[in-house]
Amino acid sequence: MKGILLAGGTGSRLYPNTIAINKHLLPVYDKPMIYYPLSVFMLGGIRDILIICNESDLNLYKKIIGNGEHIGLNIQFKVQKHPNGIAEAFIIGEEFINGENVCLLLGDNIFHSPNLGKKINDCINLRSGAYIFAYPVADPSRYGIVEFDDKNKAISIEEKPLKPRTNYAVPGIYFYDSKVSEIAKSIKPSDRGELEITDINNYYLSKGELKVKRFGRGSVWFDTGTTQSLYSASEYVEIVEKRQGYKIACLEEIALNHNYIRKEDMINYVELLPNSDYKQYVENLI
Ligand code: DAU
Repeated sequence: MKGILLAGGTGSRLYPNTIAINKHLLPVYDKPMIYYPLSVFMLGGIRDILIICNESDLNLYKKIIGNGEHIGLNIQFKVQKHPNGIAEAFIIGEEFINGENVCLLLGDNIFHSPNLGKKINDCINLRSGAYIFAYPVADPSRYGIVEFDDKNKAISIEEKPLKPRTNYAVPGIYFYDSKVSEIAKSIKPSDRGELEITDINNYYLSKGELKVKRFGRGSVWFDTGTTQSLYSASEYVEIVEKRQGYKIACLEEIALNHNYIRKEDMINYVELLPNSDYKQYVENLI
């Protein structure tokens, strides 16, 4: 399965923090935001990754993560010229997807859940159709919202409804079969001028090919697209890391634990890092 990390957009809701720097490069406590979705790919064993970003940020992304070789990844980049909507990722990424199944992660979404790798295992082994998730939230008008019938089957998905029918939001982690690029090309922009991910999900739903898994209590999901949620996510990471002494989304740690790179190569790589708590943490692991 291929992975697409969507990290373009304007970040307008985070103004003025996003005047000079793209939202996904802002820190969430002790590391850049994109480390978090990258860690989800790595925990799920997805190592062929396309990062889609704005042209003006391309070199910064390359500086932060390069081609990912140092953590056992194969990262490529593509530019999204205008923020035409999340579903455009499958048109921009069509060549990269190359007829395989694909997982899309939104660059401003942070997940932290026990056994996250295992939780997404079924989705990674998807044969056909699509898998998305549902997560209960207190502010459902901000998200795509899914409604279930009394047998727990999804029956509708609405994008940012004024009167939400449920409080189950669809988080920014989506798994699709290889049809998704064709579907993305067939949908029309919404009233706000975007190719909506909810329209892709509704397409699969209408064909009876959409599965929706629920994240239960104790799973953590942040959409860090607002100042308040970005701050809350930073606070959460700080509290958990300080309490447990383990880092969340330390990419080098995941690479070592999953044998994505050899220990000797990690030693050589870490030697070159500037002296910092982060370096110390990885050195201790080694
Ligand atoms: O966070 C989950 C929600 O994400 C879903 O529940 C909604 O159904 C989905 O539409 C989306 O809503 P948002 O309002 O949060 O989307 P936002 O415009 O903030 O974009 C999400 C991410 O995708 C963000 O990291 C920026 C990036 N993006 C977005 C657009 C529209 C792009 O890179 N290019 C784009 O054209």
